[in-house]
Amino acid sequence: MQDKTHLVDEITGHRRMRRNRKADWTRRLVQENRLTVDDLIWPIFIVPGTGIVDPIAAMPGVNRMSVDKAVEAAKEAADLGIPAIATFPDIEMELRDETGSNSLVANNLINQTTAAIKKAVANIGIITDVALDPFTSHGHDGILRDGEIVNDETVDQVVKAAILQADAGADIIAPSEMMDGRIGAIRRGLDAAGHQSVGIMSYATKFSSGFYGPYREAINTKGLLKGDKNSYYINPANGTEAIRDAALDVEEGADMLMVKPGLAYIDICWRVKEAFGLPTFAYQVSGEYSQIKAAAMNGWIDGERIMMETLLAFKRAGCDGILTYFAPEVAKILAKR
Ligand code: PBG
Repeated sequence: MQDKTHLVDEITGHRRMRRNRKADWTRRLVQENRLTVDDLIWPIFIVPGTGIVDPIAAMPGVNRMSVDKAVEAAKEAADLGIPAIATFPDIEMELRDETGSNSLVANNLINQTTAAIKKAVANIGIITDVALDPFTSHGHDGILRDGEIVNDETVDQVVKAAILQADAGADIIAPSEMMDGRIGAIRRGLDAAGHQSVGIMSYATKFSSGFYGPYREAINTKGLLKGDKNSYYINPANGTEAIRDAALDVEEGADMLMVKPGLAYIDICWRVKEAFGLPTFAYQVSGEYSQIKAAAMNGWIDGERIMMETLLAFKRAGCDGILTYFAPEVAKILAKR
């Protein structure tokens, strides 16, 4: 018999990567990245009414909640130590129109939610989106004129909506509609309205992705959307363009940057963090969530293990935190460790 140990030694010398992996204590000692509850932002869906907790078929375990229930959920999240929630409204179809005018109603569903949570829950940040898609009859993020999503007019409206959201108590405005020049315009608008302390988390690199499917079911824009969002979201093939887009947002005054979707764009997370050093977040979007849930429900994967592994991957890729529908589930698991 050949002496195999000797053979390995001749090739590798003294180098043995496995020494640091040999026991639980060494593995803990050398672990580079950790996921904590402080890394989590929980996106939630709001519907009109009271006492409503309505399951979303395409997102097992995720519900649309009326404002009162959202307040309870926010309390629970704060108790778990989750630093922030992000709110998305599913408003009545009758209120949706060509320009998304309900976004300019001061006490619309998203602003009602913010005010109610702010009043009842002390220790949680509220992040609101200003894209128009929950408010438009065509499901696009901006104003549609002659088949085009018009940039500057949309920015104008988004700035007004952002000020109303800040008036209601939003801590961070997160514009996801990808219009050019929006970050600078929102910053100037917020400052002029006395909201200097309200931050901006830019959806700096938002790709035109298939992973948003279940979200569109959640806020009922799926049947409405005419065409696609390719004329304003980034082409999934383009990494360098995404960095250029993020650079503009940094210049215009973004406080934090986001990469969306998450796992399929993990290279962008790394590049964004390396390039700008700003607090960087990944949005593990609805399709990512549903894939994991569906496979787990079929018994094909260990759902909990893969949930934790994907979230840790974002940390390794340089992210400071993750928007994830798994947030409460993860927070409970982390609390037990
Ligand atoms: C649109 C918006 C999207 C998501 C949040 N806001 C994408 C879209 O519908 O085009 C996706 C979130 C998710 O998939 O979890 N402004």
